[in-house]
Amino acid sequence: MPYTPTLAWKPLDGAEEAQLVAAHAARMERYAAFLRIPSVSALPEHAADCRAAAEWLASELRRIGAQRVEVSETGGHPIVVAERIEDPALPTIVIYGHYDVQPGDPLDLWKTSPFEPIVRDGRMLGRGSADDKGQILIHLAALEAMLTVRGAAPVNVRYVFEGEEESSSVNLEAWMRAHPDRCTGDAVIISDSGFFDGNVPALTVGLRGITYLQVDVRASDVDLHSGSYGGSVINPANALADMIASLHDTQRRVTVPGFYDDVTPLSDKDRAAFAALPFDQVAYLAGIGANTLYGEEGYSSVERRGGRPTLDVNGIWGGFTGDGSKTIIPAHAHAKISCRLVTDQDPEKIYAAVEAALRAAAPAGLQVEVTNLGNGHAFLTPLGDPYLDAAAAALTATFGREPLYIREGGSIPIAALFQRELKLPVVLLGFTPPDDNAHAPNESMDLGNFEGGIRTVIRALDAIAALD
Ligand code: BES
Ligand code: ZN
Repeated sequence: MPYTPTLAWKPLDGAEEAQLVAAHAARMERYAAFLRIPSVSALPEHAADCRAAAEWLASELRRIGAQRVEVSETGGHPIVVAERIEDPALPTIVIYGHYDVQPGDPLDLWKTSPFEPIVRDGRMLGRGSADDKGQILIHLAALEAMLTVRGAAPVNVRYVFEGEEESSSVNLEAWMRAHPDRCTGDAVIISDSGFFDGNVPALTVGLRGITYLQVDVRASDVDLHSGSYGGSVINPANALADMIASLHDTQRRVTVPGFYDDVTPLSDKDRAAFAALPFDQVAYLAGIGANTLYGEEGYSSVERRGGRPTLDVNGIWGGFTGDGSKTIIPAHAHAKISCRLVTDQDPEKIYAAVEAALRAAAPAGLQVEVTNLGNGHAFLTPLGDPYLDAAAAALTATFGREPLYIREGGSIPIAALFQRELKLPVVLLGFTPPDDNAHAPNESMDLGNFEGGIRTVIRALDAIAALD
């Protein structure tokens, strides 16, 4: 991936700057220590590591001076909560991040091991450096500086750091309902998204929702000789390929009946905002080693990614996949499929529609099992919200240019949950651009964005305190 050098960020005027500079080396040590804990939420063998990461965070919060620090049980990986209530008359800001990470593999493509972080070329390299441990630490460093220097935060803050975001936050909604006092406030800041590109600051005002499913098909008890049986029985791998192929038409639209029913069409204003983004197609393709753009006809790349729903196979397997050849008709075949959704699609409704479409496309006699592995609603927030404006002013003051307002293709299920269930304004204030390799080998965080992020959070909380 091409590395864009850091734009200088503007130091703070207040005494926190000296504290942050003095604490820099210790901060980097702690950053690396956090990244060394392989808190992969999706893999059961890492459950103890997830708990260790939660405990590590809790002890950091206590060290800094947060109050009511707790590792709260969910039935899955725990949620770390803490707060600093300075004065009930001040606004209360809920700050969300996630300490779980994606698996490290494929290991052979990493320059270092994913859980042995190193600093190289001005970046912290390691799984979770950007998504999302680094962004949690931005908030902790900001709080530490303010408490050390002023003895208080400018507003009340409540921290909610979950451990299952990368596994669709399956226990979060129930936890939120059971612990309303730990996650309510006047507004929410989520730092799990990023800049548009390199060091160009951005505020994410839209995220896609998601429904994730697995399909398992079976036609016989055992693999069969492909000479003796080929052509005379259902081949589940062929059938699954046909079923999946039937889900798109030649314009690359999704054919699932009802799929687009609740899609909010892009307005002329939406399309103008997408068109105004400085999207560099050549750099975009070069960055991922691809040679062509692709997608639904009639839409630009930024529209396809941020404003249109999609259906994609995440993995497909079955039959013989070893070296050489083995002539069989596999007994079974499998695929994992995700749909990225936009407002106002309902993930459960779309899941049911995709399941029905897969079943309808299956040949008679094929056993089809479909399992829903997670759902999350899309998120869209209006411009002009005072909390969003406070974050924008902080980004501008720190990075020397006004943020872009972007709609991202990824999903953060809690964003819609805060907005829909708790009716709170949600600000997605994140600091990592797409070239951070999140979910991929060599994930890294630009340390300029990391340091600038800390200054931005301090400025944003001060700006919120100054709102009428
Ligand atoms: N940080 C991402 C979400 C994100 C991605 C925001 C790209 C903005 C741009 C988050 O950690 C993530 O990966 N979420 C999952 C959620 C899913 C498992 C429900 C995702 O989008 O795949
Ligand atoms: Zn992620």
